[in-house]
Amino acid sequence: MSERYDSTAARHYAAFRPPLHPLILARVISPHESFRVGLDVGCGTGHSAVALTRYCDQVLGLEPSRAMLEVAQRHPKVSYHQGSGDALADLPVQAFGVVTFAGSLFYAKTERLHNELLRVCPVGGTIVAYDFEVLVHEVMANLGTECPPVASEYDHRANLSDWPEFRIDGNGNDRVGLDVAGTEMAHLLLADSNRYEALVRRFPNGDPFVALVGHLEKARVQLHVDADIFFTRYRILGGG
Ligand SMILES: C[S@@+](CC[C@H](N)C(=O)[O-])C[C@H]1O[C@@H](n2cnc3c(N)ncnc32)[C@H](O)[C@@H]1O
Repeated sequence: MSERYDSTAARHYAAFRPPLHPLILARVISPHESFRVGLDVGCGTGHSAVALTRYCDQVLGLEPSRAMLEVAQRHPKVSYHQGSGDALADLPVQAFGVVTFAGSLFYAKTERLHNELLRVCPVGGTIVAYDFEVLVHEVMANLGTECPPVASEYDHRANLSDWPEFRIDGNGNDRVGLDVAGTEMAHLLLADSNRYEALVRRFPNGDPFVALVGHLEKARVQLHVDADIFFTRYRILGGG
């Protein structure tokens, strides 16, 4: 895990995630499709696993960070399992008709993941890799917060195009608008470790969340931000 998914990130992820998961899944999965069991790799605090329940009888959310799992959203169709994308060894063979990666493929993609996906999914199975980036530079600037860009290799467009057994079945990207309340914006900003550190420097006394909400509410703004979304659907091809 190259980014920080600790108890601080978990607190803010659990409290608010932009409501983009259902919107993005609807771009690549038809409302009439259904799967018996789905797997959501890198499910964080469960928002992406819960979004997948729209299409599945049951969903398994897989997540390496114990802190994220401890506050994961409970849902009758979702069970959680601690683990990473390249260690699916204890998951059953051909069990998952659909596997999603929401903002997690960049971390999870390894040669072992390739082999594991081919083992736990049937031929014809569906993989969806998706991500989003909420464009908050202006909000940070308006807060008077210095957040120097950190050298990061993170790629929102991480994909499986170099794995020939995974054929692209649909993809796209788009920009969508979001209306966000002050408390939601505070959670969104503080969920990212680099922004968190910048905001602690900006609001050094006490809990930065409380200070940030106070600041945003004093301005009495309903914040509007844009988000870039990215999504690709793959179908697993048979051998030979
Ligand atoms: C950007 S968060 C997305 C969380 C969740 N899918 C969502 O959309 O709210 C990325 C998640 O990937 C998880 N992760 C990091 N390394 C991983 C790996 N090797 N395998 C699976 N998940 C991983 C992190 O712990 C984190 O919860």
